[in-house]
This record gives sequence, structure tokens and C-alpha cells, in this order.
Amino acid sequence: MSIISSFFSLFKIPSINELKKGDIPNHVGIIMDGNGRWASKRKLPRVLGHKAGVEALRRVIKLTSKLGIKYLTVFSFSSENWDRPKEEVEYLMGLFVDCLSSELPLLNKKGVKIKMIGKKEGIPKKVLKSFENAENKTCKNKEMVFNIAFNYGSRQEIIEAVKKIFKAIGEGNLKLEEVDQNSFSKFLYTKDCPDPDLIIRTSGEYRISNFLLWQGAYTEFYFSKVFWPDFNEKHYLRAIFDYQKRNRRFGKL
Ligand code: IPE
Ligand code: IPE
Ligand code: MG
Repeated sequence: MSIISSFFSLFKIPSINELKKGDIPNHVGIIMDGNGRWASKRKLPRVLGHKAGVEALRRVIKLTSKLGIKYLTVFSFSSENWDRPKEEVEYLMGLFVDCLSSELPLLNKKGVKIKMIGKKEGIPKKVLKSFENAENKTCKNKEMVFNIAFNYGSRQEIIEAVKKIFKAIGEGNLKLEEVDQNSFSKFLYTKDCPDPDLIIRTSGEYRISNFLLWQGAYTEFYFSKVFWPDFNEKHYLRAIFDYQKRNRRFGKL
């Protein structure tokens, strides 16, 4: 191989099959950020950015399944996002209801199990029903788990876990000595899920915004400058390729 071709191969993104020969993360988390800026850049209303974001999510779910990644968790609406303008929140709620029903047949066919992670209280009835319907209809699927973090905030999740632990101890169902990292994890929304190996955030922001704080203790992070609606297969493969080059030490040598 010439020097020039080996130089360019450094930037070449491997194919799905090539990547699959390496270490594929078991669980990928995504902070799908930048919808509003994507729309503003095009002089469109912010909400159209959210609509375009659905397309990106479709692409990502498909590729997640092709790569054989078993768990995908996406941050779709945070416990702090309620403070946005009423019209934007209402648009988003409608979008969730519509997508949960329109995407269901295909997700079901692909063996995807949908799970909402977040606080149930405070979610409009119609939206909660849509999530519950999607969970019920896909609960037996085994190919991939698709967690939708909705009305999700990690600090709130941890506080809720602490309260549940106090209650379990008070009722005699748990002993104080039994509370450790392992048992604590079982009180989180993600109780049935391994910790994320990789978290991707789009839109060029370098922060975690209250997403999977406990679960992400040893997660690898990948930041992309691309706004979420523009995030495509190539960007996703590049993130996985980058992940494969990391050296995860977990505090050891
Ligand atoms: C992420 O995109 C989607 C949600 C938070 C619901 P944003 O709406 O945060 O887009 P920006 O960050 O304002 O561009
Ligand atoms: C995080 O994005 C939440 C989602 C992607 C759903 P935000 O846009 O709400 O986060 P900040 O406000 O930039 O930290
Ligand atoms: Mg944002």
C-alpha cells in the first residue's frame, strides 16, 4: 500500500461487515440534539426540525439492527423540555403519538421491543397511552431493545430510586446491607438494561444534559457536530469506528 493510499484509508469509514468483525457496542445511547437549529438555519419553524428528526431516527434504528447492536436508548424529551414554548411542546406530543402508531408495524416486524424510560406522572394521558400501547404490542420481541427516554431526567430517576429503596426497606423487602451498586441499578428505569457502552451526542454540544448519569459512569462518548436531522448512516458508522479504537480500562491497567 502506498503512503498516499494508507493516509486516505485513515479517513475511510469501514463497511457494516468490516465493523462487525470488531467490537460492536452492546448498548448505544443517543442525545438527538439540534433539531431546532437545523430548522432555523433553513428559515423554517423549529417544529419542522423535530419532524425531520424522525427520519434520522428511522435511519439509525435500521442501522442499529443491521449492526447487531442489542440496546438503543434515545433521548427524545427531557424532564426540563416542558419549559419550552407551549406550541413546541404540543407539536412534539402530537408527533410522539403519531410516530408511535405509524412506526409500530415495521418495528414489530423487525423484532424491536419498545420501552419508555422516564417519569410516568405528568405525561398527557394520550401520549402515555401511546407509549403503553407500543410497549404492550412489542413486549415479546427479542431482536433489539429500543428505549425511548421521554419525560426523562437522570437526577429525578436517581431520587425516585432512593425513595423506592427507602420504601422497600421500610416494608421489610430489602435490607440496608443489601443496597449496593448492583441492587441500586435495579431501582432505575433502566433496570433490565446493561449500561451504555457508547453515547453519541449530535449538534456540537459537549454536555450530557441529565442523561443516564448513573449508567454512563464508564461509557465512551462521541460528539458529532452534525444537527440531528442530518445525522446519517455514514456519521453513525464513523461513531462506531471511533468507538472501536478506544481503550476502555475501567480504572484498571
Ligand atoms: C432536540 O433538539 C430535540 C428535543 C430536545 C426535543 P432541540 O429542540 O434541542 O434543538 P436545538 O438544540 O434547539 O437546536
Ligand atoms: C437534551 O437536549 C434533550 C434531548 C435531546 C431530548 P436539550 O436541547 O434539551 O439540552 P440542552 O438544553 O442543550 O442542555
Ligand atoms: Mg437542544
